[in-house]
Amino acid sequence: MSKKVIDLLNEARSRELTAISQYMAQHYELEDSDFGKLASKFKEIAIAEMKHAERLAERILFLKGEPTSKPDAVPKKGQSIPEMLKTNMALESQAVKMYNDASVVCAAEKDQISKELFESLLAEEEDHLNYFDNIKDHVDKLGAAYLATLTG
Ligand SMILES: [Fe+2]
Ligand SMILES: [Fe+2]
Repeated sequence: MSKKVIDLLNEARSRELTAISQYMAQHYELEDSDFGKLASKFKEIAIAEMKHAERLAERILFLKGEPTSKPDAVPKKGQSIPEMLKTNMALESQAVKMYNDASVVCAAEKDQISKELFESLLAEEEDHLNYFDNIKDHVDKLGAAYLATLTG
């Protein structure tokens, strides 16, 4: 089995671990500042990323590799809501690019299952990106009035 593919799966897993800790950190901060509705959505996305990290680990183990437990970045703390959204959009769009590229390499390595895994994650990351982008757009256009709807 291809070392190249295992490395890509582990790079993806590191990215997922970063997203998990970033979104959970934001979830706690948002809960703490009473933005409960936004907090629970961020938690939901963090849990989706946990499932991604797990699916990647299962594939790595199947290929006889060792799943990494290292995130690829340190989560940012103390950001404003617009800053959080920018951080998350960057994480998601980097993941989209990473998984698109990885699926091409998997095809070249003739590993159809890993390719399909990347494509399936990719579809969900696009949804996450779209969600953060929409919220950012509402915050930019409507400001405080919109933020008020995310409390509770
Ligand atoms: Fe993910
Ligand atoms: Fe995501």
